[in-house]
Amino acid sequence: MSEEDVRGDGGLEARLEEQETFEPPESFVEQANVTDESIYEEFEEEWPQCWEQAADLLEWDEPYDTVLEDEEAPFYEWFTGGNLNASYNCLDRHVEDGAKNRAAIKWEGELGETRTYTYGDLLNEVEAFAATLRDLGVEEDDVVTLYMPMIPELPIAMLACARIGAPHSAVFAGFSADALATRMNSADSEYLVTCDGYYRRGDALDHLSKTNEGLEDVEHEVSDVVVVDRLGDDLEHSLADNQHDYDELVDEHAGASVEPVSRDAEDMLFLMYTSGTTGQPKGVKHTTGGYLSYAAWTSQAVLDIKPEDTYWCSADIGWITGHSYIVYGPLALGTTTVMYEGTPDYPDKDRLWEIVENHRVDIFYTAPTAIRAFMKWGAEYPDQHDLSSLRLLGTVGEPINPRAWKWYYQNIGNEECPVVDTWWQTETGGMMVTTLPGVNTMKPGSAGPPLPGVDARIVDAAGEEVEAGNAGYLTVQKPWPGMLRTLYNNDERFISEYWQEYSDEEADEWVYFPEDGAKIDDDGYITVLGRVDDVINVSGHRLGTMEIESAIVGVSGVAEAAVVGGEHDIKGEAVYTYVIPEDGYEGGDDLREQIVEAVEDAIGPIARPEEVVFTPELPKTRSGKIMRRLLEDIASGNELGNTSTLRNPEVVEDIAEQVQGD
Ligand code: WT7
Repeated sequence: MSEEDVRGDGGLEARLEEQETFEPPESFVEQANVTDESIYEEFEEEWPQCWEQAADLLEWDEPYDTVLEDEEAPFYEWFTGGNLNASYNCLDRHVEDGAKNRAAIKWEGELGETRTYTYGDLLNEVEAFAATLRDLGVEEDDVVTLYMPMIPELPIAMLACARIGAPHSAVFAGFSADALATRMNSADSEYLVTCDGYYRRGDALDHLSKTNEGLEDVEHEVSDVVVVDRLGDDLEHSLADNQHDYDELVDEHAGASVEPVSRDAEDMLFLMYTSGTTGQPKGVKHTTGGYLSYAAWTSQAVLDIKPEDTYWCSADIGWITGHSYIVYGPLALGTTTVMYEGTPDYPDKDRLWEIVENHRVDIFYTAPTAIRAFMKWGAEYPDQHDLSSLRLLGTVGEPINPRAWKWYYQNIGNEECPVVDTWWQTETGGMMVTTLPGVNTMKPGSAGPPLPGVDARIVDAAGEEVEAGNAGYLTVQKPWPGMLRTLYNNDERFISEYWQEYSDEEADEWVYFPEDGAKIDDDGYITVLGRVDDVINVSGHRLGTMEIESAIVGVSGVAEAAVVGGEHDIKGEAVYTYVIPEDGYEGGDDLREQIVEAVEDAIGPIARPEEVVFTPELPKTRSGKIMRRLLEDIASGNELGNTSTLRNPEVVEDIAEQVQGD
């Protein structure tokens, strides 16, 4: 299949006009967790009490007395007065209910080794590691940073932190040393759990050296670092005085019993940093009661998870998708969750389908960027495997083009599995806009209606709701339990980033603005069009253009830089950089290499520029503003509009020629 076929399905207008629709298969509806469309009305009429249904999925040490506290809006509180522990809800209660021997985590290493943790095993190891953390001095409310790849010790560490009331802050293992240091500094985190390395395409990657490099830039004292030995003899490493071997500590604490700490519903469960429009990442704060209820409820209603299922989300736990839908949601429901360490095309392009077949996976949740890659590789890879165990498919992270949606529906789901296209964000904690798979008609390319109880509306620049058929800005006009509570140590930025745009502060009416553009149709289905801020979405990962620009202007020889997203067949968007060299410097391969390296050092390989274009000037308006739109059009290979309003129209042609050829 050619690259053009992978993505090319015409303009958005064209593709929505001839939109096909699909009904949920009968066989699915018959067994679905939610089948009655009256849930929409019920949630509307009984809002916010409707969210008790989410809280009821959990076991509370102390019942809450108020569902929603909006006294200090937009600093909302959910299930106030309630007490609970997330680790207890994900582990102990299932063991107590007789599920001790049910698999909780089925892990596949990249090299083919597997590990299964039953709920009983997982509880034991979580208790041993919780006891370890305590012994190291971790106290309630201390932030523990987790810088780990897809190994079982990552969810174990998360649950161990949750057990003793220490919020975790996971940093994606693919992020750079700098990114680790920035996050540890921001959170004032004195404890770190990491590993020696991991496997990528069969190679042993050294993760500990990168960790150590990052630790050098941490401004406060880091008291302890726990290191998982993932690579054994494949990587020689030595540990510093404050660094400890994970296995040794866990062995020492084997059999420990650690009472789950009863946490207030509003106590922080974790922090997750995400990119914004400034160079500083934002520490999104999630809570114990609201977040966990919402992760569990959406896992049940949208992913249709049942305890007897084998469920697999192929995201990385270092991102919010993995937090909510590999760890907390699925384990709260007592199901079996699959984890895979490696890449989808190692040793061959059928690796994921082999895992689906071997584990008889019922539910599979992935990202459009992955689906577009599968599509490019061809149907012969899934065709080699028995995928008949699958019942439901999901996607998340970026808009999915109808062509990729249909390919997924036909070639992975055999037209027997509903596909849920779930819109949400790090900040929302869980899914917000998507079909309920046992209830709604599916429209490829369109995420669906807002979930019951979620008040998402599309508005124009003045905040007025747009008519069906029109595009505007996506907003959420009522709070929901999974929402972020604030940005860590930065209430002001929390307000200015999310609430300033459309709220009426005087009237105490608060509107959440996720910074996405969207379109709504006659049936109330929302098609998300993408970010409207200076954030780009590469393979479903959010990157701030400012962050990348500041890395580039740090390279000597660079005078100015502009970074934009351009369309990419597989990644959705890719990083395009336009650079003005300083006087006396030559824009050539040397400088290009230094720029690429600087970006990888500051953020990580995911931010690696697709192209570095040197230009003596950037296209600017007469008032001196860089015309980013134009740079995006060049990067995406679009036709360029009128440039006559520019101060320097002549540079445009030159830049375009470098990118698009002539
Ligand atoms: C941004 C959030 C949610 C976990 C993964 C990303 C985009 C996400 C969809 C979707 C269209 C989507 C939005 C959103 N996005 N899901 N189904 N359709 N766009 O989390 O890094 O916080 O990014 O991803 O632009 O704002 P994130």
